[in-house]
Amino acid sequence: EKGGWSSFMAKEISEEPEAVANTILGRVVDGQAVLPELEGLDGMLAGIDRVIVIACGTASYSGLVGKYAIEKWARVPVEVELSHEFRYREPVLNERTLVVSISQSGETMDTLMAVKYAIANGARTLSICNTQGATIARESDAVVYTHAGPEVAVASTKAFVAQITALYLFGLHLARVRGTLDAETSAHQLAELQGIPAKIEQVLGNGEEITQLAKWMSDSRAVLFLGRHVGYPIALEGALKLKELAYIHAEGFAAGELKHGPIALIEPGQPVFVIVPSPRDPNSLHAKVVSNIQEIRARGARILAIAEEGDVAVLPFADEVIRIPLAAPLFEPLLTVIPLQLFAMELATAKGLDVDQPRNLAKSVTVE
Ligand code: F6R
Repeated sequence: EKGGWSSFMAKEISEEPEAVANTILGRVVDGQAVLPELEGLDGMLAGIDRVIVIACGTASYSGLVGKYAIEKWARVPVEVELSHEFRYREPVLNERTLVVSISQSGETMDTLMAVKYAIANGARTLSICNTQGATIARESDAVVYTHAGPEVAVASTKAFVAQITALYLFGLHLARVRGTLDAETSAHQLAELQGIPAKIEQVLGNGEEITQLAKWMSDSRAVLFLGRHVGYPIALEGALKLKELAYIHAEGFAAGELKHGPIALIEPGQPVFVIVPSPRDPNSLHAKVVSNIQEIRARGARILAIAEEGDVAVLPFADEVIRIPLAAPLFEPLLTVIPLQLFAMELATAKGLDVDQPRNLAKSVTVE
């Protein structure tokens, strides 16, 4: 039941701190990530030379976030592919390939068929799944459950943050098994991850400003989303949420791609959400994104920046700044996605739409 919330989606967003915390629970032992369900698979995990993540929609964007973490920590190449594209292009697979499927329902036909294809072609399979005993989980060699609890609203929210959390844990587990990360760094990362639920709580506390923004923007015809590095998949996710819930044309771009085409879309008044990397980012992406903001602002874009607390560099160029608490740059997606989920929900609500049951969509897509 909705338990006093206006929609299942509102309730499920409010449950995101627990979704992350419960997914971490029992998987940190002496400062190291230990996934008990992968016991006995150390030899296989140490021997793989490639990871292919397969998923659809929102689940695939969690995979894109996971790619940054897994490659950085476990030093193994990670590809992310849509399930329905994967199995029709004769992918090169062997017993050193680990195919990681991600699915909230565990019943998505495209992903199930892709897992079966992977098995039939000699790959090893791991499922990240939110539904106990689901078909995809049963088909795979191993399963790491996300513990988001049942997700009822069609649009995925708490399952997404739980999927990202599971991928971080898997990345650290893999790094431990492969000996690619020292114990101290790993413990530090896990401590950061364990601090995330309280920070999500803080972001949720600022929900009212998002509601206002969504009301002002309820007649928008198109909204763009820009992000870079781990902010890029979040831009894609912000755009998907807005399309599916508010029926507004929305596109997510990698900020670095702007001048390769999308900047032509900018005209006066065009709303653009920009996920601003932390100024503490070791790759200095912050300055690059701030310069992107200046470029599009000069062409009349209305800038809605999602930026870390205390980041003053964005102030002169942003029409609105949505603040997120400080976090280690790799973990920022668990915070930056929250305002975008709230925005899509509030804008759909302002338009009088049913946020739990958007038109033409089903919670679990069991046909190809
Ligand atoms: C978006 C959404 C979909 C699902 C996708 C995969 O809000 O819900 O894009 O993420 O259909 O579903 P699962 O995770 O059940 O395989």
